[in-house]
Amino acid sequence: MCGIVGYIGDKNAVDVVLDGLRRLEYRGYDSAGVSVLSNGTLDSLRSVGKLAALEDKLKSNPISGSSGIGHTRWATHGVPSEANAHPHHDHPHAIAVVHNGIIENYLEIGAKLREKGVEFRSETDTETLAHLIRHYFEGNLFAAVKRALQDIRGAYAIGVVCSDDPEVLVAARSGSPLVVGLGEGESFIASDAAAILNYTRKVLYLEDGHVCEVRRDGYTVQDLEGAQQQLEIQTVDWDQSQAEKGGYPHFMLKEIHEQPDVIRNTIGGRISEDRSQVVWEDGLLDDDLLESCDRIVIIACGTAWHAGLVGKRLIESLAKVPVEIEIASEFRYKELLIQPNTIVIPITQSGETADTLQALRVAKEHGATILSLVNAIGSSIARESDAVIYLRAGLEIGVASTKAYTAMIAALVLLAVDLGHRRDTLTSHKATALLTELQAIPAKIQESLDDQGTVLQCAADARYRDAASALFLGRGYNLPTAMEGALKLKEISYIHAEAYGAGEMKHGAIALVTDKLPVVFIAPRSATHEKVISNIQEVRARNGIILAIATQGDTGIAQHCDDVIYIPNCPEALSPILAVIPLQLLAYYISVNRGCDVDQPRNLAKSVTVE
Ligand code: AGP
Repeated sequence: MCGIVGYIGDKNAVDVVLDGLRRLEYRGYDSAGVSVLSNGTLDSLRSVGKLAALEDKLKSNPISGSSGIGHTRWATHGVPSEANAHPHHDHPHAIAVVHNGIIENYLEIGAKLREKGVEFRSETDTETLAHLIRHYFEGNLFAAVKRALQDIRGAYAIGVVCSDDPEVLVAARSGSPLVVGLGEGESFIASDAAAILNYTRKVLYLEDGHVCEVRRDGYTVQDLEGAQQQLEIQTVDWDQSQAEKGGYPHFMLKEIHEQPDVIRNTIGGRISEDRSQVVWEDGLLDDDLLESCDRIVIIACGTAWHAGLVGKRLIESLAKVPVEIEIASEFRYKELLIQPNTIVIPITQSGETADTLQALRVAKEHGATILSLVNAIGSSIARESDAVIYLRAGLEIGVASTKAYTAMIAALVLLAVDLGHRRDTLTSHKATALLTELQAIPAKIQESLDDQGTVLQCAADARYRDAASALFLGRGYNLPTAMEGALKLKEISYIHAEAYGAGEMKHGAIALVTDKLPVVFIAPRSATHEKVISNIQEVRARNGIILAIATQGDTGIAQHCDDVIYIPNCPEALSPILAVIPLQLLAYYISVNRGCDVDQPRNLAKSVTVE
């Protein structure tokens, strides 16, 4: 899940490309590079590590040109090194290629090229493409790229320039996202429109199998066989300030604090005046299907999968429809039992996660109806779904997902209430009560954000901050919250953390409990609260360090715990939204106190566009 940017026009392409890469660095930061064409030659510079290293290198070795491409890398093939950094080149150093994705048959093609005397300089799959384009190049870059891609198997979004055909930039996509930006006398390509919003809001979303010849004054989109393809120009209306930190030290902290507004956006205009029912902006799915579907399958990855676990409980409890929740990368390769009125619900922030996208396509091939929950407008998963519930969480840049998670749960509450209403499994009295409580959630999140004393104290406490591992325990609606709390701590503080059902803990994980192990209980008021208290006492008996997330007013719990972080009261079904806030903050502050790179944690990337 690398980031690629390209430019052709009258500005210095290096400036435009670097500006774009700064906005895409959350996609990967193992190395970076840029290639530009000037006066018929191709100049390139690459460096290991963050983009800042490349910027320093450019200060001492300035290059410039009116067209160029750039890349920020998340390594798949070959270690992070300058040799493996993109752009990759052919031997005459006339063709440069940047690539996001994986070329599955690169070894095969590489072997054939080696037989023809081609020498390889890197361990990457991408370099193969540069040599293959050279192999087919007869003066027209567009034609050579189309021909080369016919030999390729795998996923790609690419940008290509060539000093022997300098008036064009060629871009192509299959499986990985790519947009073309249209300006006055200049054009752009990028993995994500956010990278070029400073220059244009007019974009084309390339579809799989599209190749685009991009020129200063226009573009041509064809398929690999050369058939013309028509694409509608779309206008991106995102507010660019979302891509700034707004005075916060990290995007993650900014996004945690945006959650009250985000939930207002997610539910805004979707609850009827009298709060008795849910009203969707565009007709959701065919009423009959929503009323008659007898099975729902949720597919997702990571944090989105945790939201799906909450969604399963909500829909089964409120709408009485059996729900299966599947890890997308597993669902993709299993025997699918899809019936005509099965609804498959992909959940995703980026809308580009390859595992979820491929799982969606397989489900569709088996005749499922696709209703997606997506944050990124115009993303592949949104465009390939039969209907979409947009999360309206705005741009999420911090690699550790926060606001998108709570928005997912809020949207799932709306969907469960709507299904329950349509299928007469939920009285309008209960629907009104839950929707009224949901509308009160943003203010309650703000209450937690305004009272961070205990979470800051815990994050500075060596027992938590310097722990080698931690255990997160919850029951019912808050078992997924425990999983999400553990994931947040893992992915940004690198403390090994595991989540378990609080009841299940005594069947094994309790062996881990010592006076060095923090055990975080997600214990707001619930039908199983007393059971959770017993589980706390089981850990207490073994001297575990106990931190509980509990409901304000629950003074009794404090006697069993080392620390308690209180959250406002709410119905159990909504408590996962409130209970995760202190866990997001705990992970954030512990990571800051451990000196970790919170927004760009090691080995991770914001949207995982390779399988
Ligand atoms: C969460 O903090 C991670 N960034 C990751 O687990 C993420 O949730 C997962 O990759 C799914 O991403 P998506 O929601 O964009 O599909």
